[in-house]
Amino acid sequence: MEVSLRGARSDLEQYLLDKRRRFLKFLPIMVAGAFSYPLYRFALFSEKPNRKTSIALKDIGEGITKITKQEYFIYKRANKITVFDAHCTHMGCIIHFDSQHKVFNCPCHKSRFSIEGVRLRGPAKRNLDTISYKIQNKTLYIG
Ligand code: FES
Repeated sequence: MEVSLRGARSDLEQYLLDKRRRFLKFLPIMVAGAFSYPLYRFALFSEKPNRKTSIALKDIGEGITKITKQEYFIYKRANKITVFDAHCTHMGCIIHFDSQHKVFNCPCHKSRFSIEGVRLRGPAKRNLDTISYKIQNKTLYIG
């Protein structure tokens, strides 16, 4: 019985060629995945900057107090305090408080919110976000 090594070698070469073709076929997908992974990870899992802050209760007057650096508004009336995130709920621009009309206005696309954070005008679709806080030793801790 005669075994042809030449035929066996051809089969092996063909197998390796097919394997290489399959690898090259998927190479662009693998490269695209490798390059897009950091963007994907950044978009979904990036940590938000630390926005924790504190303010002495004596420095919070009636009405609106703005904490500029961490971008919060504190609304105090009677004995109730609400902390608002100063980012517009539409696309995140920093809102401004109009003390004359007692509303928050967004300079980007003109959304408007009441002093209680209720959406008055879009394109924002929801009220301002409120931030949790705690009071200890006559200090308000936010975030
Ligand atoms: S970001 Fe405020 S209205 Fe668009």
